[in-house]
Amino acid sequence: MPTLKVNHADCTCCGECAATCPLRIIRLPDGSFPRFCDDGAERCIICGHCEAVCPTAAITVEDPRLDPTTYPALHAPIPKKQFAHHLRMRRSIRRFSPEPVERETLQELLDLMRYAPTGMNCQELQWLVIYDTDELRRLSGLVVDWMRHLASQISPAGLNVNFEGMIKSWDKGNDPISRKAPHLVLTHTHKDFSIGTVDGLIALSYLDLAAPAYGIGTCWAGYFQYACESWQPLRDALALPEGHQPSYAMLLGKPAVRYQRPPKRNFGNVVWR
Ligand SMILES: Cc1cc2nc3c(=O)[nH]c(=O)nc-3n(C[C@H](O)[C@H](O)[C@H](O)COP(=O)(O)O)c2cc1C
Repeated sequence: MPTLKVNHADCTCCGECAATCPLRIIRLPDGSFPRFCDDGAERCIICGHCEAVCPTAAITVEDPRLDPTTYPALHAPIPKKQFAHHLRMRRSIRRFSPEPVERETLQELLDLMRYAPTGMNCQELQWLVIYDTDELRRLSGLVVDWMRHLASQISPAGLNVNFEGMIKSWDKGNDPISRKAPHLVLTHTHKDFSIGTVDGLIALSYLDLAAPAYGIGTCWAGYFQYACESWQPLRDALALPEGHQPSYAMLLGKPAVRYQRPPKRNFGNVVWR
């Protein structure tokens, strides 16, 4: 269970920790130093907000699950114009250099994903990295097998995607499944963990947005994902832990294309009340 450590020399009893705690489990009885309420330690979700908000860095949350690494505060927010530009310039990359991304770079990027929000700060998400490019091609071949299977069962009119065309393209040596990306990552959680898929999608969105800063291009791997939801040979090859289901898959690699400007987008559809 977590413990709250309060440095009495630095704590000013300002109450910011108690006011910020999402579970309201921190008390400052009669203006004294902060502490957990009676069942506070059991209920604490170790989100660390009390520690993060303390103006004098007087409070620390300790728990064996927590990585003790800390990072210095950086108070200047990213300028609005720069951030908006970054969001508009993010693109799905479908032309990749065959050169692999250095493992350390990928590791550094994935490490950041621990900061993506998770429901109740559960942090149950697990990642599978298919780093080996030959293995990714083999898995993509299994996705094509799934397409062949569906195409043999359902008439082309019944399929809302051009599987025939994709199969032909694969047979010609192209890769419409994983776009000849060198790597793929997949998030997964236990199927009984109801919010797991959402957590996985959020974390992958973080990855999508952060990757360009590391020189990495990304593309959501929709066909790969559809296949791993139902195609047993692919599920067997992925060998996820018992009871786990993938939330989504994403392709990664060094981009072999440079976009010069944002594309146009439809008008937004927003209702204000
Ligand atoms: C859930 C999801 C699944 C996707 N699956 C694929 C895919 O399998 N193959 C692909 O080339 N692009 C895929 N995309 C990329 C979309 O086609 C792309 O986001 C869209 O065309 C807009 O382009 P942009 O991402 O560059 O803004 C997927 C995107 C999302 C959000």
